Amino acid sequence: MKPKATPQKSSAPPFEGLSDYALEARKLAMAPFSNFKVGAALLTVDGEIITGCNIESATYGLTLCAERIAVFKAVSEGFKKFSAIAVVADSYVVTPPCGSCRQVLWELCGNIWVHIADLKGHKKTMRLSTLLPEPFDKRFL
Ligand code: THU
Repeated sequence: MKPKATPQKSSAPPFEGLSDYALEARKLAMAPFSNFKVGAALLTVDGEIITGCNIESATYGLTLCAERIAVFKAVSEGFKKFSAIAVVADSYVVTPPCGSCRQVLWELCGNIWVHIADLKGHKKTMRLSTLLPEPFDKRFL
């Protein structure tokens, strides 16, 4: 069966200030193994902001990214509709969400805006569908 068209969220402009929340959340990152601290801030359609930071495990594989912490926190607190996420890391080029986070964000948030930024203020904004153009999701099941 042919999957339905990619769902589109509102065409509201990106929320630039969201990256300030991600920057703040990044300060709580626990990244003793990679030393790569990441902060994320997820915006609901009602304007609520739920933040997350990466938390690493000595087993490495149990490490969770900032984006997934933010989205799982939000969903576990009853938030269901989202419009954007900001992600802040300190890297040479602005860091996009990893593949696992793209999948989870797609399934739980839909085609949200994604703002990525570094500590120098470089920013990039795109739709999640740009980062995950051919997603697998419940439409195929
Ligand atoms: N990390 C994130 O928090 N988000 C991403 O999208 C990429 C990677 C974290 C996981 C790990 O703690 C560290 O960055 C290095 O991979």
